[in-house]
Amino acid sequence: MVSFAFHTVPTLVCQLDCALDTATHCQRLGMKHVVVVTDKGVTGLQLHEAIVYNLQTAGLRVTVYDQIIADPPEAIVIAAAEHARRAGVDGVIGLGGGSSMDVAKLIALLAHPEQQQHLATMYGVEQVTGKRLPLIQIPTTAGTGSEVTPVAIVTTGETTKMGIVSRQLLADVALLDANLTLGLPPAITAATGIDAMVHAIEAYTSIRLKNPYADLLACEALKMLDKYLQTAIHDGHNPTARQHMLLGAMLAGQAFANAPVAAVHALAYPLGGHFHLSHGHSNALVLVEVLKFNLPKGAHWYAELYSVLDPHCRGSDTEKAEKLINRLEQHLVDSLLPLRLRELAVPESSLSLLARDAMLQTRLLQNNPRPLTQQDALGIYQSIY
Ligand SMILES: NC(=O)c1ccc[n+]([C@@H]2O[C@H](COP(=O)([O-])OP(=O)(O)OC[C@H]3O[C@@H](n4cnc5c(N)ncnc54)[C@H](O)[C@@H]3O)[C@@H](O)[C@H]2O)c1
Ligand SMILES: [Fe+2]
Repeated sequence: MVSFAFHTVPTLVCQLDCALDTATHCQRLGMKHVVVVTDKGVTGLQLHEAIVYNLQTAGLRVTVYDQIIADPPEAIVIAAAEHARRAGVDGVIGLGGGSSMDVAKLIALLAHPEQQQHLATMYGVEQVTGKRLPLIQIPTTAGTGSEVTPVAIVTTGETTKMGIVSRQLLADVALLDANLTLGLPPAITAATGIDAMVHAIEAYTSIRLKNPYADLLACEALKMLDKYLQTAIHDGHNPTARQHMLLGAMLAGQAFANAPVAAVHALAYPLGGHFHLSHGHSNALVLVEVLKFNLPKGAHWYAELYSVLDPHCRGSDTEKAEKLINRLEQHLVDSLLPLRLRELAVPESSLSLLARDAMLQTRLLQNNPRPLTQQDALGIYQSIY
């Protein structure tokens, strides 16, 4: 019997239009003045307006802060927290993709009136000591699952990202409202959706903290994401597909929050850091080759995952695992994302640098079903060049 602990967000609402009732959750949490943390892509589409109207109609004060940028650097986090602290907010709403939701988590910590701790000392696992403000997360992409993870990813140098992982970062409420994702462009839908699929797969094969509860979530997530990804990409205004994508991404988020991701993410991070490829697209690029590399140790788990997608399939574990890889490859092709590094202005001479940087992701590599060396990483980057 496996021993494990499982943590998640206490209140989850998965319903079309549920974001229009954000005020009820704010009031239950005692918020009077909230900061809505988002980016210009979201405010440019006026996605925040109906939520702000709902909050103001209910008598809440609202500060909208839309200065977040993708892969948020430290300076953005510090400026956002300072803005919220000066405004005197007593609650935080993250509205956006992983970038806005991650910063919202950190604002909730850093803008708490009793906060003594500096951001620089929060990196790593369970290093956060102080309290946070009440926090509601409303995703507008179906990808990171950040609304239910205890993780915030910050760009700390020119090219490096670091994670703050702390139970304190788990929100009080997550609201999944597909109306906010209907206009998400196909390329972002594809990249973020593949990211969510990777979360499910890597959680299921995480050698360190794999557990039966995360397994259930990962299987259900993968089934849902596999079924609805292409509809969400090619028929973006389909609310059923969009709501299922949000749910699938959240279930995958719950899974990897408790059984963490591995080499796909480790090899993806340097691509994002050096060449500003999105997090999801970076994952998509390395996904198939990392899974092929993992086959000697992970085939039985990949076979189990394939059986979830195709319960009547026959064959050996290796055959089923290969079918899973083929199915993912088909999703990537149908997603129309560029899948070769050469198409993305990545110079061939940088591959050894990427391999060296991937090795720095020890927090992730330790979860991989098969140990991966710098030489292995280089081989993977070469094969997707
Ligand atoms: N906390 C976690 O557990 C976790 C997990 C994985 C990744 N991450 C981090 O999350 C970030 C990536 O998040 P992401 O992939 O969701 O993207 P993102 O938040 O960076 O947003 C990407 C783009 O999508 C736009 N966008 C968002 N919603 C939209 C909508 N509904 N319609 C139109 N455009 C919209 C944004 O304006 C932005 O330009 C990275 O920093 C990554 O490291 C965090
Ligand atoms: Fe991810």
